[in-house]
Amino acid sequence: MRTVALIQFGVGQVGRALVEMILDVRGRLAQRGIAFEYVALADRDGAVIAEPGAPPLSEPLLRELCRLKAAGSRLAEHPRGYHQENLAAIVDVAGRSETLVVDATAAEVTAIGPAFWRAQELGYGIVLANKKPLTADMATFRRLTSGPLGYEATVGAGLPVIRTLQMLLDTGDVVRAIRGALSGTLGFIMSHLEGGLAFSQAVRRAVELGYTEPDPRDDLNGLDVARKALILARTMGLERELAHVHVESLAPPTPADASVEEVLVALEAVDDAMAQRFQQAEATGHTLRYVATVTPDELRVGVAHVPRDGPLGGLQGPDNLILFETERYTPRPLVIRGPGAGATVTASALLADLLALV
Ligand SMILES: NC(=O)c1ccc[n+]([C@@H]2O[C@H](COP(=O)([O-])OP(=O)(O)OC[C@H]3O[C@@H](n4cnc5c(N)ncnc54)[C@H](OP(=O)(O)O)[C@@H]3O)[C@@H](O)[C@H]2O)c1
Repeated sequence: MRTVALIQFGVGQVGRALVEMILDVRGRLAQRGIAFEYVALADRDGAVIAEPGAPPLSEPLLRELCRLKAAGSRLAEHPRGYHQENLAAIVDVAGRSETLVVDATAAEVTAIGPAFWRAQELGYGIVLANKKPLTADMATFRRLTSGPLGYEATVGAGLPVIRTLQMLLDTGDVVRAIRGALSGTLGFIMSHLEGGLAFSQAVRRAVELGYTEPDPRDDLNGLDVARKALILARTMGLERELAHVHVESLAPPTPADASVEEVLVALEAVDDAMAQRFQQAEATGHTLRYVATVTPDELRVGVAHVPRDGPLGGLQGPDNLILFETERYTPRPLVIRGPGAGATVTASALLADLLALV
């Protein structure tokens, strides 16, 4: 049996789903000769770790910690927990001979980078659901990708987007363009314009259904899609920075501390313009989608006209869809489609990456 120690940062929705998934598939992994053993879990200000030489964190403890975190508790408050301000020290203390580090946070690279660099020095692989480190400057991306790394979960959640792109490139295909609907939230909103709903009403419905971030401007500003487009571009080998992504924001100009209701009301100001754009698209057999376009010459995320009867135009609700236009996949592109968010599917991408690194 090959035992691999896991150090995990982030015990939110995705982090908890991963812990539980790893416990649930233990038997199957054992059949393949692999045992993942948690040696550390950390949240924003606390951690529970197995001291060097001590047994790994037990299944009952891990399940209890997941329950407590789901109830809003902090790891530092647990009898086994302690207050932490240094993720790199956790890598140092908890790491074993064979260790993988999981980033299921939304932390900036300034906060989490030192832990990654320490992990790399120790020869540990890193698996991320967090887009921010991969979309910091190009030097950071190069440094991260210089060691064993998995980041499937960062684009399309559980959909096999990154591994498909890497397979195309590794087998010598030439990727000419990637086009995609990479935000379930914006997909939901745009496809609801077709039913005649005003833009602000479509956003309101997405908020009510819990499809948006707590502040819907975090979806509407396009930054999350821009980060995904940048990750795809960099995976293609293009040296680009976040500032190179041409982003169309759909967020209304509102004060930083505006309430959700104020944001929704402010959006009404663009209802007519968006309805007009939609009618113009419809007149030529097109519809509107929020599309990421990644080519060697173009890096753009924003509202685009797409053929109504094409793959992107046919997309309804919050699904993601990614088209790879390549030398081999021409004239018909390779298409990946399905739910592009959700804690369990995202955790499955993290687990698949962990297995790939083992
Ligand atoms: N949910 C999805 O469908 C989905 C899909 C694809 C990718 N992702 C990505 O996966 C990551 C996690 O998402 P989530 O939905 O699980 O978010 P979440 O529920 O907000 O959980 C985030 C976790 O990260 C921890 N954290 C934040 N900053 C930290 C720091 N500086 N140091 C240590 N821990 C820190 C938080 O700690 P506290 O518990 O102390 O707050 C929390 O445990 C995000 O990067 C997200 O973009 C999510």
